[in-house]
Amino acid sequence: MDPLEKPIYVTRPALPPLEEFIVYLEKIWESRILTNNGPFHEQFERDLADYLGVKYLSVFTNGNLALMTALQVLRITGEVITTPFSFVATTHALWWNNIRPVFADIEPDYFSLDPDKVEAAITPQTTAIMPVHVYGNPCRVEQLKNISDKYGLRLIYDAAHAFGVKINDNSILNYGDLSVLSFHATKVYNTFEGGAIICHDEVTKNRIDNLRNFGFVDETTVVIPGINAKMNELQAAMGLLQLKYVDKVIEKRKKVAAQYRETLKDIVGIKCLYDMDGVNHSYSYFPVLIDKDKYGKSRDEVYEQLKYYNIFTRRYFYPLISQFPTYKGLSSARPDNLVVAERVANQVLCLPMFPDLENDVIARICGLLK
Ligand SMILES: Cc1ncc(COP(=O)(O)O)c(C=O)c1O
Repeated sequence: MDPLEKPIYVTRPALPPLEEFIVYLEKIWESRILTNNGPFHEQFERDLADYLGVKYLSVFTNGNLALMTALQVLRITGEVITTPFSFVATTHALWWNNIRPVFADIEPDYFSLDPDKVEAAITPQTTAIMPVHVYGNPCRVEQLKNISDKYGLRLIYDAAHAFGVKINDNSILNYGDLSVLSFHATKVYNTFEGGAIICHDEVTKNRIDNLRNFGFVDETTVVIPGINAKMNELQAAMGLLQLKYVDKVIEKRKKVAAQYRETLKDIVGIKCLYDMDGVNHSYSYFPVLIDKDKYGKSRDEVYEQLKYYNIFTRRYFYPLISQFPTYKGLSSARPDNLVVAERVANQVLCLPMFPDLENDVIARICGLLK
């Protein structure tokens, strides 16, 4: 088989029709309001909260600043239990807040924090748990809630992958004290870059809004040492427009997942993840696990061979965050503390997943895997 003519990457951002975006641009040029709670920003916050089925939401210029701010909102200090199997931003947000990350192992089915391992990692210094809904698959939210209630800990979800995900028709963002979204270009739903914090009361929402704008509450009053994490009008306009198309985007992603699952299901040594009971997924990634002993080739061999065919998969999340130099020295970063995460990080491969991925390209990718 010859390499594909055009390279296929792991993702390709969904964009609305350009002519529709130009209408928004014209309005921005007319108003000269570029940022600082402009009209698109205000409308976007309302419409997005409605779409997601949440009550209090604050948009941010990116998910990373939203995560860092979320920790400030709840004045988190000391130690926070988190997962090594995520994008580095999860742990970096703790580090930037002078919080000590404590890594706990993941569960083997959907790769999110294992509640039993979380409970075992609690010390008198623990103040919060920061789990990640990896690939948009919900964490074991009820068990994590029981643990956080039992020990009086805060629960902050990194929900960067979980846009639009619901459990029994309830947004996943309604779990925990706070949830943080990312609207980065690589996500199911993008505003070029962007993010949001979801909270559950007005006082907290006000504190979030002050923190994201240098701590200002009015022209002359600064109540807290905030940061500049505001979303601008271009991003908000993009967000409004993308909301019109996101259901279609998710529908198309679902079809891509279905074709992969159907075609790969009989390959010995390649394991797909399937939909969870009662969950509406948004299909943000398509991870598979490659077991070298059964499949005959290692994940890295497959990754390299697909590259030769112009197919660029990604090994999310390898290496584990706990393997990066800043975190490697922590006692919780020892590989024998993170046995499942180490195995999954060495076997996982995210195949191309985006709404316009064509059937014949999926068939080619699956054909090569077969
Ligand atoms: C799990 C996770 N957390 C945080 C982030 C950071 O979000 P952003 O890129 O919007 O800053 C990302 C992705 O980019 C992510 O995948």
